[in-house]
Amino acid sequence: MKYTPKEIVAILDEYVIGQNNAKKTIAVALRNRMRRLNLPKEMQEEVTPKNILLIGATGVGKTEIARRLAKTFSLPFVKVEASKYTEVGFVGRDVESMVRDLAMASYALVKKEHKEMIAESIDELTIEKIAKKLIPEPPSSASEEKKEDYKIAVEKMKQKVATGQVDELKIKLEIHKKPDEGLDGSLPPEVAKIQESFSRILGGLDKKEVSKEVTVKEAMTILKNEAAEELLDNEAIKNEALKRAEENGIIFIDEIDKIAVNSKSSSRQDPSKEGVQRDLLPIIEGSTVTTKLGQLSSEHILFIGAGAFHLARPSDLIPELQGRFPLRVEMESLDEKALYDILTIPKNSILRQYAELLRTENVEIVFDENSIKAMAKFAALANEKTEDIGARRLHTVIERVMEDISFKADEFAGEKITIDENLVSSKLSDLIENVDHARYIL
Ligand SMILES: Nc1ncnc2c1ncn2[C@@H]1O[C@H](COP(=O)(O)OP(=O)(O)OP(=O)(O)O)[C@@H](O)[C@H]1O
Ligand SMILES: [Mg+2]
Repeated sequence: MKYTPKEIVAILDEYVIGQNNAKKTIAVALRNRMRRLNLPKEMQEEVTPKNILLIGATGVGKTEIARRLAKTFSLPFVKVEASKYTEVGFVGRDVESMVRDLAMASYALVKKEHKEMIAESIDELTIEKIAKKLIPEPPSSASEEKKEDYKIAVEKMKQKVATGQVDELKIKLEIHKKPDEGLDGSLPPEVAKIQESFSRILGGLDKKEVSKEVTVKEAMTILKNEAAEELLDNEAIKNEALKRAEENGIIFIDEIDKIAVNSKSSSRQDPSKEGVQRDLLPIIEGSTVTTKLGQLSSEHILFIGAGAFHLARPSDLIPELQGRFPLRVEMESLDEKALYDILTIPKNSILRQYAELLRTENVEIVFDENSIKAMAKFAALANEKTEDIGARRLHTVIERVMEDISFKADEFAGEKITIDENLVSSKLSDLIENVDHARYIL
């Protein structure tokens, strides 16, 4: 990754409105990891990432920033909910499983990249497999001449397969039903192993190899996976995935405030919350976790904690954990202007998403300027009068505005519908007047 913090922020700006402090902090954190890689080896080992705590109400973009970042820069990323974990020794997910999850996310990411790199070879091999199925191979005792003919025929058939001329021809495929390879990478390896050997025993009893007749077209999709497995170097992928997770991985711990123990309301404290916090310490500090890819050191993984911190404060986390999240960023709440920008600026804004959805029904939707302003205004009002749920309010607002059109879309096929301020007001103004109503519906 060669982006400067400014460039990273600029890319985020395309999707996330406002929240400049958060964007800057995260951009610097990413850049620092890159800087670290340019240090001499001994120094590298010393520099660990500074983890970030994002503090802000619901729906203001905490998760969105991290998710975007990971997606744009192809970083291994997992988002976990702190409240889902239990202390080691209790029934439930232990915190180490988040590192195992990251390993699997990294593996999927790297594998996808490798597949894309050799997409052409995969296609070629798939086509060859199909051509060979269509033309029976001559016996090994056949004459040289026959074997030559066969080769030529296969070449010709490959052409036909590639250009789709024989799509509808039927061929027989042996489809292997592999026993589930303990797909859940989040299980501790020991448990996964037991599960695997069980399914092998069971799988051995009724060997799953089904012969099925399919069209050439269908066979293409089925055999592509097989071809990919043959061509991909799984060991190399595993090694790269492991390294990528260690050096570039991001673990986003959502709802971290839910495991904080509020010092004031000491009644009915949940002791296991503190246990989870304690279990988190070594992982954040850097420890080695056994994953399906091998030993993964969590030392350079970037942890981003996020939470609203309404009831608890960061200082209600145990001191050791507070200290491991030195970068604190408060997220701004979203005002009317920000909500308007969220509707209009991002490439994937929900207005565009809605228009595209209805386009599939051949209905063209246009939101005029004033209607968008009105939606932002009503969303801001609703946030103010009831609970502040940030940009998520826009979803409830737009659903309300579009409900009739969406329901009767088939009647409007081939038409262009302009959403104007009147429509928005007629749908929302009564609701806003009546706070109790708004609470339920918006
Ligand atoms: N600043 C923003 N810019 C653009 N879109 C935003 C922004 N904030 C929120 N959104 C949109 O609102 C939705 C919810 O945002 P997000 O998931 O980031 O909330 P959050 O802050 O993580 O809330 P929670 O605390 O409930 O998890 C997403 O679909 C996102 O696209
Ligand atoms: Mg979130």
